[in-house]
Amino acid sequence: MKKILYMVGVLLMVMGTMLSITHTEVQAASPQLSAKQVLMRKGQTFTLKLKNAKKVKWSSSKKAVATVKKGKITAKKPGMTTITAKSGKKKYKCTITVTSGKKKALIIYFSATGHTRSIAGKLAKVTGADSIRLVPKKAYTSADLNYNNDCRANREQNNNAKPAIATVIKNIKQYDTVYLGYPIWHGKEPGVIRTFLSMTKLKGKKVIPFCTSGGSGISGSMTHIRKLAAGATIKNERDLTGASDEEIKEWITNN
Ligand SMILES: Cc1cc2nc3c(=O)[nH]c(=O)nc-3n(C[C@H](O)[C@H](O)[C@H](O)COP(=O)(O)O)c2cc1C
Repeated sequence: MKKILYMVGVLLMVMGTMLSITHTEVQAASPQLSAKQVLMRKGQTFTLKLKNAKKVKWSSSKKAVATVKKGKITAKKPGMTTITAKSGKKKYKCTITVTSGKKKALIIYFSATGHTRSIAGKLAKVTGADSIRLVPKKAYTSADLNYNNDCRANREQNNNAKPAIATVIKNIKQYDTVYLGYPIWHGKEPGVIRTFLSMTKLKGKKVIPFCTSGGSGISGSMTHIRKLAAGATIKNERDLTGASDEEIKEWITNN
């Protein structure tokens, strides 16, 4: 009897191990593109990686703007193109913005629900500056932003978190002015902005912050912006919620 029980025990252990291996395989990390937004100058190269994937087929929606070979992107002429990495039936996309390399001003913005994006678009039109969107590695869902005490945005703001970002700016050196745009979250800048400032050297550049908000204004974000953009000249910050082209024009003439 003892022997039978022992054998059953061993059998269960083997089955358990097999099940846990299968489980691990099912749980294998899903493929992830190393960047989702890239800003690069004509002539530059940048290599994208699709992590946790084996056979990857790469393509560019506008080969005249940038080509891609085994993930290596070569910027050909100013414009935008989408790089697609196909693994099995799934597709992963990255937007590439190629610039002329001649502009001195860059608009860098984060926008979760589109307001700051719309202002950044007007600002690009009025200034003629290059523009790039900061995107988090893990996109914000509506539940992440729902104002509940334990929602992701709230937790990140309480902890001054720096969530990983999936935007790469290859040519930051060429710019002497950076317009930095963001929504106000719980009185201050969102975590994506803290991450960006912590990993980017803006020393010697002019940084002009702008925001959109539900009424709090930009002042609550300025302590962190000043601290994190060390060595930059920070000036003329403005809440541009609902601003017209004319108001933006007036603002930039004072910058
Ligand atoms: C998580 C979260 C927190 C917010 N906190 C504030 C706040 O403290 N003060 C304020 O005036 N507006 C706040 N808002 C409103 C946004 O600042 C405003 O809607 C902004 O225009 C959104 O910009 P976007 O559409 O570019 O993301 C908050 C919005 C969200 C989603």
